[in-house]
Amino acid sequence: MVLKYKAPRGTQDILPQVSWRWQRLEAAFRDTCRRFGYQEIRTPMFEETELFVHSTGETTEIVNKQMYTFEDRGGRSLTLRPEGTPSVVRAYLEHNLSAVGGTQKFYYIAPIFRYERPQAGRYRQHHQLGVEAIGAPGPDIDAEVIALYHDFMGRVGVEGGVTHLSSIGDPKCRPGFRQALRTFFKPVISEMCDFCKARYETNPLRILDCKVPHDVELRVGAPSALDHLCAECREHFDGVRAALDALSIPCEVDPTIVRGLDYYTRTAFEVVHSGLGAKDVLMGGGRYDGLAEMLGGPPAPGIGFGSGIERLLMVLPGEDEPPEIEVYIAAAGEEARVPALRLAMDLRAAGVAADMDFLGRSLRTQMREASRLQTRFTVLIGEDELKAGQVTLRDMETGEQVPIARHEAPQQIAARCAGLKD
Ligand code: HAM
Repeated sequence: MVLKYKAPRGTQDILPQVSWRWQRLEAAFRDTCRRFGYQEIRTPMFEETELFVHSTGETTEIVNKQMYTFEDRGGRSLTLRPEGTPSVVRAYLEHNLSAVGGTQKFYYIAPIFRYERPQAGRYRQHHQLGVEAIGAPGPDIDAEVIALYHDFMGRVGVEGGVTHLSSIGDPKCRPGFRQALRTFFKPVISEMCDFCKARYETNPLRILDCKVPHDVELRVGAPSALDHLCAECREHFDGVRAALDALSIPCEVDPTIVRGLDYYTRTAFEVVHSGLGAKDVLMGGGRYDGLAEMLGGPPAPGIGFGSGIERLLMVLPGEDEPPEIEVYIAAAGEEARVPALRLAMDLRAAGVAADMDFLGRSLRTQMREASRLQTRFTVLIGEDELKAGQVTLRDMETGEQVPIARHEAPQQIAARCAGLKD
């Protein structure tokens, strides 16, 4: 058999054997967000291209090399979301959510599209769970956002994540830092890649983000943003560290953090995990105090993070599990077919996950199927059972078999299943 089609390069099908793990992560994340007062926001999967060019940034790798951009039939340039933040801020402004007042807290679980070279932990369609808190300028919300992720990691049992923290300053201190970078790179810029040469003029901070190996070598010893913070940014950074300390959340100050997006101001952070190999960043985020204004809105300081679900799954403990069917109904003969279907429906109505054979297979094959599914119980309906108005319930673990009156079967079986869960 030669199949004609495969999933596009850099994408993957999430099959039932693993989709339950996705659900577990997502449910834990939703619950964490609920407890922290964050509410779900769902934005379109594509936006006007200009939104990302303006916010993610014209000089970034994402905008330069990775966007899935297309023209629709109406001649509009649209782009599949390469990250979540611009869409959330756009929606916040479009719906005038600042009028609600206070701090608006959002979370999302969404597919993200980046044209990257696929490898372990790097996809062209990946999925992020993330939060954005908009409206609060002070350092406490920075600490809360980081604390939320720590809470979530604890909840799902991910251990070994190390939080790196830095500040990349604001428009007041950025010019000084930019100048320091230009001075540092001036003697070597001619040896660097064409993108870096352009970045040297437009945005030398982005040189720190270049992946070309020779350029990576040339930037050893480059100036650090932390050494160029103005007094206000320094105070904010100290405030974040003090709040994290008070919450007993360990973090390492790491001035080498360069987030690959242009809108960041002040706090920048990443959680890295050795279990991920080369692509070791599990989560990344930061503050973006100027983004709302860049998009034409009123000032609205914001902070958030995004974390790749595929990467979280790489470090999530626990095995893959088969789909959970609790009861398998094995029916012998034509007459038992409809009673089996009815019993399955009654069991499901009583809250039990029940399945049965739809291929008219032999009783033996059906029993084998029940073993394969690792159901705890099998219900047998044969000629004798039909005559007696009963079913036979078999405990697949102990081998014990008991007759149960047909009309009592759904409740009795549901009670046994519930008893096992307690
Ligand atoms: P980012 O660092 O570009 O930030 O991505 C966030 C996370 O998404 C990464 O730490 C990684 O876990 C995952 N990720 C990124 N690219 C891929 C890929 N190709 N394959 C698999 N996983 C990937 C942002 O996107 C910002 N919007 C985060 C943010 C929210 N900042 C403020 N608010």
